[in-house]
Amino acid sequence: MPLTQRIETAVSDALQLSQAESAPAQLSSALVYATTPGGARIRPTILLSVAAACGDDRPELANAAAAALELIHCASLVHDDLPCFDDADIRRGKPSVHRAYSEPLAVLTGDSLIILAFEVLARAGGRDPGRAAQLVLSLAQRTGMPGGICAGQGWESEKTIDLGAYHRSKTAALFMAATEMGAISAGHAPEEWRDLGALIGEAFQVADDLRDALLDAESLGKPVGQDDLHGRPNAVAELGVKGAVDRLKQILSGAIASIPSCPGEAALARMVSHQAERIMPAVPARYRA
Ligand code: IPE
Ligand code: IPE
Ligand code: MG
Ligand code: MG
Repeated sequence: MPLTQRIETAVSDALQLSQAESAPAQLSSALVYATTPGGARIRPTILLSVAAACGDDRPELANAAAAALELIHCASLVHDDLPCFDDADIRRGKPSVHRAYSEPLAVLTGDSLIILAFEVLARAGGRDPGRAAQLVLSLAQRTGMPGGICAGQGWESEKTIDLGAYHRSKTAALFMAATEMGAISAGHAPEEWRDLGALIGEAFQVADDLRDALLDAESLGKPVGQDDLHGRPNAVAELGVKGAVDRLKQILSGAIASIPSCPGEAALARMVSHQAERIMPAVPARYRA
């Protein structure tokens, strides 16, 4: 089954668990709205690619891990768009959840998706509780405090921001979860996969900063110019467009070099290069000199 189909099926199976006639209808609908159709699904794609590179001997566990990670990511976007964070009206080309439903329902949607992610892992643990417990630990560490996305969002309330820690926890954390959870699902040790996730995450953040500076809201499906608007530190402000592009290329070659030796090493390197092409925005000629 192609990866995209595996991911959509896994996300939809997970969502089924949240739906019941007896449940509040608007919140049920908001959970589906927040997760489908998806964005690039880059984190579960990386997770399943690492699982494949490690032999993928428990595909049902890898599928559950992929769904759980994407649910956490979607939850983080719902909360990130709220007026108390970025106050964004559009996400993935449609009204953000609090605009389409309401603020209370957006808070509850994020909360429910986070809890659903862990329920999915718990349910998938039947055949291999040891691996499931490791998956729960990785996802919890990369989501919460002190180094997960909660920490990343928390940095925005500090007087001075540690840029490295901010980006590592806001963005790279879920890419580290992707590589770690892919390895764990297939019975490999997560530690040696951490660097790959951290480097892909760092590259992704630089690419996101470039997109925020160079693209328009319509092609991006979310507001642009946000970093400047909120006065947030970002790679383009720090390095300029050309400097940020050079930095992105440098991090990506480091990411490919960091892939641990494993049966699917070459295929994984191709996947990282392919994802890199997708995230690199077209840079106007005036910035290329
Ligand atoms: C957006 O992530 C949030 C950041 C960490 C920059 P994505 O660009 O992966 O969002 P979707 O899932 O494709 O919409
Ligand atoms: C969102 O970060 C990342 C998390 C919610 C953890 P940003 O605010 O920079 O990303 P976008 O531009 O809204 O996707
Ligand atoms: Mg934000
Ligand atoms: Mg935002």
